[in-house]
Amino acid sequence: MNYRHAYHAGNFADVAKHLALVSVVLHLRKKDAAFAVIDTHAGRGVYDLTGGEAVRTGEAEGGVAKLAGLQGGPSALSTYLDLTSARDAYPGSPLIAAKLLRPQDRLVAIEKHPEDAAVLAATLRPFRKARAETADGYARLIALLPPPERRAAILIDPPYEAGGEFSEAAGAVAGAIRRFATGIYLVWFPVKSPAGANGFCGEVLAAGARKVLRLDVTLGARSEERLTTAGLLIVNPPFGFETEMRDALAPVLPRLDDARADFTWLAGGE
Ligand SMILES: C[S@@+](CC[C@H](N)C(=O)[O-])C[C@H]1O[C@@H](n2cnc3c(N)ncnc32)[C@H](O)[C@@H]1O
Repeated sequence: MNYRHAYHAGNFADVAKHLALVSVVLHLRKKDAAFAVIDTHAGRGVYDLTGGEAVRTGEAEGGVAKLAGLQGGPSALSTYLDLTSARDAYPGSPLIAAKLLRPQDRLVAIEKHPEDAAVLAATLRPFRKARAETADGYARLIALLPPPERRAAILIDPPYEAGGEFSEAAGAVAGAIRRFATGIYLVWFPVKSPAGANGFCGEVLAAGARKVLRLDVTLGARSEERLTTAGLLIVNPPFGFETEMRDALAPVLPRLDDARADFTWLAGGE
């Protein structure tokens, strides 16, 4: 396990992924009934973008740092901007979720790397309804489904550092969907080759999900990042999710080297 998210925190892929997470959690909060958030690859939970690893790659400079001064927009964007205003404490996905929980909701955040898991546990300690686990996210996901609340957002955000991780991730998502077909799944993936990404999406689709939206965010030609397209599969997106994400991304994309967002319904639609 060489991957450390501290080098990539706050980059353009995090911006798109975290906006989508905020949008989904705000949707779940529209009803009083409790919901669960399961974050299978949670990372440390908080990142100092002003020093260390973040400065060495400069990825946050090309991501969230470019949103400085942006205000308003749909609630997903304004909430994301509020949550990420401190450069020395950029919240990872589990901290974003923890901050949006109501008393009746809960978060389970799983991280395998012992050092990052220790920081995650400390980061989530103030949140009574958030639990950090040091474990394998894929195995725990299957054990945690279906959640008793029957309402859940599940973020699956692996590092894809090992050769077979596309298959492992697709298999885990497919298994999870079979156990809990009505969950809202956010599955991040890198688009390094169209064939690899399409194959991955095809494997997830084969699990039989009825509503699947794919969002690709591609940096503009001026970008010097190594990864220029970040993918997100949203299984069972809430009604209106695509419109909210289009509106949220509209003021964001021009600041990310004129990035582009492509939305494709792979199954179902609105
Ligand atoms: C892309 S990062 C997660 C970033 C985080 N979701 C966020 O948005 O802030 C992937 C994380 O997965 C962890 N990881 C790798 N393999 C894992 C596994 N099998 N189970 C749980 N965590 C794993 C890595 O240590 C790394 O911290």
